[in-house]
Amino acid sequence: MLVRMSKAQRVLEVGMFTGYGALAMAEGLPQDGRLVACELELYLKEFAQPFFDKSPHGKKITVKTGSAMDTLKELADAGEQFDMVFVDADKNNYINYYNFILDNALLRSDGVICVDNSLFKGKVYLRDVEDENAKALRRFNQFVRDDPRVEQVIVPLRDGISLIRQVPMATASTLQLSMITDDVVFRGVGGASVLDRMRLDGKVAYVTGAGQGIGRGFAHALGEAGAKVAVVDIDEGKAKSVVEELTLKGIQSISIAADISKPEDVQRMVDTVVSKWGAVHIACNNAGINMNSASEDTTLSEWDKTFDVNLRGVFMCCQAAGRVMLKQGYGKIINTASMASLIVPHPQKQLSYNASKAGVVKLTQTLGTEWIDRGVNVNCISPGIVDTPLIHSESLRPLVQRWLSDVPAGRLAQVTDLQAALVYLACDASNYMTGHNLVIEGGQSLW
Ligand SMILES: NC(=O)c1ccc[n+]([C@@H]2O[C@H](COP(=O)([O-])OP(=O)(O)OC[C@H]3O[C@@H](n4cnc5c(N)ncnc54)[C@H](O)[C@@H]3O)[C@@H](O)[C@H]2O)c1
Ligand SMILES: C[S@@+](CC[C@H](N)C(=O)[O-])C[C@H]1O[C@@H](n2cnc3c(N)ncnc32)[C@H](O)[C@@H]1O
Repeated sequence: MLVRMSKAQRVLEVGMFTGYGALAMAEGLPQDGRLVACELELYLKEFAQPFFDKSPHGKKITVKTGSAMDTLKELADAGEQFDMVFVDADKNNYINYYNFILDNALLRSDGVICVDNSLFKGKVYLRDVEDENAKALRRFNQFVRDDPRVEQVIVPLRDGISLIRQVPMATASTLQLSMITDDVVFRGVGGASVLDRMRLDGKVAYVTGAGQGIGRGFAHALGEAGAKVAVVDIDEGKAKSVVEELTLKGIQSISIAADISKPEDVQRMVDTVVSKWGAVHIACNNAGINMNSASEDTTLSEWDKTFDVNLRGVFMCCQAAGRVMLKQGYGKIINTASMASLIVPHPQKQLSYNASKAGVVKLTQTLGTEWIDRGVNVNCISPGIVDTPLIHSESLRPLVQRWLSDVPAGRLAQVTDLQAALVYLACDASNYMTGHNLVIEGGQSLW
């Protein structure tokens, strides 16, 4: 439970015994997680290994035999670091293990040390206790309580388990004594670490074209980062099934059926989000279409349809969301442009698409400079060729092999390759970025 709750990926166990605890913790780790177990006795490794081999989680476990202190030194020399350490070996060495782990950064700065048996059957509280282990644990508990580097809670679970974490910032008096520059870089903006600054908790977002492909990936990314998400698509069924996915992951979401080429739909979309959640913080204008024809054959109807969704539609979304955001004094608009705004993708012919996406970049640059001093950032993402239903049309599918030879990365993009960039543009860590076209194309536009 603790391994899962702390989202640990690397666990160190000091004292393994039969491997029961090691395997339980390994089950809580992700597939690529790793657990290093220290055990004095070689026979216990030989006893446990066959059981590890039978379990799908056993391969995550590496047993190091010999004195735990020697293993800790070896791990520190190798530059290893753990998210969680479970101390459960010889009690009189607990203080030594604990100090070594903290002094040598074997624990990640916001990791947790769990110490087993820290109440020792309640004996740590008895005045005249003779038990050497109980005395050792009493000394250990006192030592941790007096250590300004950490805070701890002792949970009276069976024999007592201490949960210890490093205090992110040393106390003010410690700071004065040292040569530390106590500024926003040291403490983090608003006290938050760089990764925490990318969280979107409490933010309200919508994503257009979120029923499939890139937009679906964007909706999941914003939701995973903590935002409430309105899933907008012309296809109501697809929008609803993405909401079902998000709900399963505990993400608050609603579906909105809207054709973003229609002004009344765009306004209804923004109004729905505001009436449901009271604000729009993140507007992800992603819906777009692509039609192919040689330029000399491109009809006005194809041109107009493409521009109605890709440029006029994106403009209407920016304007409707932007009006709310300007009033709020806060907003993040992220449009989906395309690498086609930079290069002329080939051999397929797609004049209207290329021109419309170049328009999205210029629209983004213009709004990005016009609204930034009122708290609204406008940026766009230009993906290369992304493996979505858009490129699996009958005319485009045969070109995939041809395209691959144009991509230095040697593969098409997956929607997941774009997710972190979207979250970055949606969060306050990117407040100084505006009018930017963030190109993610595996190097294709450079060849
Ligand atoms: N796939 C790529 O290779 C690629 C590359 C660069 C840019 N893009 C851009 O990324 C965006 C998403 O592309 P994708 O590959 O996920 O496309 P997709 O066709 O897989 O999905 C687009 C979604 O948008 C919806 N949609 C279409 N028109 C709409 C409208 N008028 N109103 C509301 N929803 C509408 C569709 O129903 C669909 O669910 C588009 O703007 C596209 O131009 C895609
Ligand atoms: C309480 S058991 C561990 C139980 C295990 N953590 C679990 O939950 O299943 C303690 C283990 O620590 C080992 N041990 C004791 N002293 C040690 C040392 N100095 N170095 C490494 N292991 C040691 C013992 O051999 C024993 O197997």
